[in-house]
Amino acid sequence: MKEEQKQPLFQHHRRRVAAFTRKKFTKPAAYVILLLLSYFFGYLSAPSSNSQYDSPPVGPRIAQNRVTQDTAAADNDHYRFTTQCGAPVPSKLVRQTILDRLFNGTSPYDNFPPAHATTLLRKKKIKGWGSNGAVFENLIRKVQPKTIIEVGTFLGASAIHMAQLASGLGLKTQILCIDDFRGWPGFRDRVRDINMVNGDVLLLYQFMQNVVHENATESVLFVPFSSGSALQQLCEWGVFGDLIEVDAGHDFHSAWSDINRAYKLLRPDGGGVIFGHDYFTSADNKGVRRAVHLFARVHGLRVQIDGQHWVIHSP
Ligand SMILES: C[S@@+](CC[C@H](N)C(=O)[O-])C[C@H]1O[C@@H](n2cnc3c(N)ncnc32)[C@H](O)[C@@H]1O
Repeated sequence: MKEEQKQPLFQHHRRRVAAFTRKKFTKPAAYVILLLLSYFFGYLSAPSSNSQYDSPPVGPRIAQNRVTQDTAAADNDHYRFTTQCGAPVPSKLVRQTILDRLFNGTSPYDNFPPAHATTLLRKKKIKGWGSNGAVFENLIRKVQPKTIIEVGTFLGASAIHMAQLASGLGLKTQILCIDDFRGWPGFRDRVRDINMVNGDVLLLYQFMQNVVHENATESVLFVPFSSGSALQQLCEWGVFGDLIEVDAGHDFHSAWSDINRAYKLLRPDGGGVIFGHDYFTSADNKGVRRAVHLFARVHGLRVQIDGQHWVIHSP
């Protein structure tokens, strides 16, 4: 084709494009498309926002795998109570070990009560729940314990009852009471006459007063800390029990943790017994019962019932 023939054709094409552009891009839809296209290309080329804070981008499958791994790890953690217990302290040294470790080698009952508390304490105020059940005598007769560990003591009703039973059977039994002596929020609505000084309820002092009143200071000692840390510490010190009662927090998680930690404290040569109250209580949808059964299933143990209590014998 000659050059002069090409020219009109080219000019015709440009006129058509210009007409198309005028016609099409004056419409609002075209602007919207352009806007979307520019946003899309801008997004691709921009650096990731907050990239110094965000974790590296992960695809949905990797993220899902991570969640699954985290869940599995958390599941394992629920069953892991890994504290290594120390070599067993001989039973006859248990009392002195606690006195040395917790009370500077002296009895905490010496010079009790202190002057500032004398007028605030009742001579005797013993209140408990199921604290005199037949299970205590049944197990003390059977196990003949040298050391009993109680997790959850409150005013000492069950501890004092066990001390009296053991003494009646001619046993020299040391009872260690683990309790933070705080009770629980609102307990003073149910148990009146416990004084408070500057927000501090006098549960520990009233418990001690009860023990003094019942002449049980030689057999009942206390470990005034949270159950988790106290049980772990006794394990590390090698302080084991022949009989362990669990009666502190009654929600599933508290009971689960206490039972697992307490079970490690049963005497290592076997024949010990762990038991606890409120198997039938509806707190936390029967949290105690669910914790006991899960524990028994995991360890292949059998749960027995004695009154309101559950009982598990170690092999
Ligand atoms: C039901 S009372 C114990 C009653 C006692 N066994 C009796 O029969 O007389 C529960 C006790 O567990 C204690 N407790 C609850 N959770 C605790 C925790 N995590 N650590 C230490 N003590 C706890 C409370 O302070 C309370 O004194």
